[in-house]
Amino acid sequence: MNMHVSVNDQSVGEIQADALVIGIHEGGVLDGAAAELNDLSAGQLVELIEAGEIAAKCGTVTSWLAPAGLQTPHVVVVGLGDRATLDVRTAAVAAGSAAKLLAGQERQRVVFLLTDGWDQELVAAAVSGAVVGCVGQDLYRAERRVHQIDELAWRTPHAAAVEEGFQLGEATNLARRLVNEPAGIIYPESFAKVAAQLAQESGLELETWDLQRLEEEKCGSLLAVSQGSDREPRLLILRHRGGGRERPHLALVGKGVTFDSGGLSLKPNDSMKTMKCDMAGAATVLGAMQAIAALDLPCHVVGLVGLVENMVSGSSYKLGDVLTSRRGTTIEVLNTDAEGRLVLADVLDVALEQDADHIIDLATLTGACVVALGTDVCGAMTNDQDWCDQVIAAAKVTGERAWQLPMFPEFGKQILSDVADIKNIGEGRWGGAITAAKFLEEFVGEASWVHLDIAGPAFQDKPKAWIDAGGSGVMVRTLVQLARGLAEE
Ligand code: BES
Ligand code: MN
Ligand code: ZN
Repeated sequence: MNMHVSVNDQSVGEIQADALVIGIHEGGVLDGAAAELNDLSAGQLVELIEAGEIAAKCGTVTSWLAPAGLQTPHVVVVGLGDRATLDVRTAAVAAGSAAKLLAGQERQRVVFLLTDGWDQELVAAAVSGAVVGCVGQDLYRAERRVHQIDELAWRTPHAAAVEEGFQLGEATNLARRLVNEPAGIIYPESFAKVAAQLAQESGLELETWDLQRLEEEKCGSLLAVSQGSDREPRLLILRHRGGGRERPHLALVGKGVTFDSGGLSLKPNDSMKTMKCDMAGAATVLGAMQAIAALDLPCHVVGLVGLVENMVSGSSYKLGDVLTSRRGTTIEVLNTDAEGRLVLADVLDVALEQDADHIIDLATLTGACVVALGTDVCGAMTNDQDWCDQVIAAAKVTGERAWQLPMFPEFGKQILSDVADIKNIGEGRWGGAITAAKFLEEFVGEASWVHLDIAGPAFQDKPKAWIDAGGSGVMVRTLVQLARGLAEE
């Protein structure tokens, strides 16, 4: 059965479900559902809190089996921390942690009561967090660790926010699933099939460029990366034409390297083992487009993804090769593992022709960005400070983490080549996230552009309390938030 959401206005004592989720704040004052539960259980909730068995610290979850006075066999009590600091991130973490705990077994119906008195933003964040929390990376385990809950019911008057949170969660889960599928399942052609199905179901427009079209369009940079693979490349252009405007408000560009072996500059085993994740940028774009269409936002958004496999064979591109990009810029290849920027060079050039107000690209581009910012923060780089401020502000609203890195002109000197216009790596490894962004900047002309390096957050080695390990779907919600903001302009 597919997951679905609903609203519920019953009292705690009336509800029949597999489990209830109730929130408590620090400071001892119980309100809403927690107060109801305490009354029904003749004060047991307060006793358990005072005995230290149930904690109110942000993100703690406690299972309480068979409390007295209920028609429901299982209550999960979630800590919401300080009432004054409740924000979208706490809401998503709390609901996600409860959902993930309950997803340890099959459940048909869970009623969430922690949203009593919450505004629309908090409700949407909680619903989205719960939808994400009960889906795992264990796609191929006979005995699943994470079981999708059939129905997530919410006690809130904000029915529209529940629906919105559901769409955001589903879109995040689409991005996560595409990342989690192995490279033998998701490769350029099969990714394109998923996009075609999505377009059909959601009303998105879709244009697909196959190998022949990419050759006609002289995408020499993208094609070079692809040439060592037995899989054909694809470039997809998805469109949501909302708000009745001819020119797009926004172009979203995604790196879709469905597997990155490094090419002839082969990665060592440990670095290669998670490289099915190297299409996370493209998956994020697809997820965001799904949500933008489902919510029917009144804005015109175009999504472009470049899909290739970076492989080793007798036809692989080589060190010393000089490529001519679609834009005409010549590129000396000095490391075949710096392939993402080569793919994006041509996709950004196609994106420029869309004449959007703003461009944002997403890419698992550099290990250097992970060294700089760790595994939970996206690097943001730009040629337009106002636009970057808007992107970072949108991330603040959704509770996702982005931090700006500088684009001083000195970094650009590092990619000048003696034999071609530019080369595909900097001098040495220092500042590698920035030299990669400087390379991309060569292909965006005068357009207003932000590059998000998602190499750290897009794929997690370890699970968190509120989300399984593997693909994270990071930035799907921020992209939707941005589209919403532009629509209002
Ligand atoms: N896809 C990798 C970057 C990456 C690293 C993504 C870790 C996710 C986690 C990218 O194509 C790459 O290999 N970059 C090189 C660039 C270098 C050769 C200049 C890197 O970071 O080592
Ligand atoms: Mn690489
Ligand atoms: Zn890569």
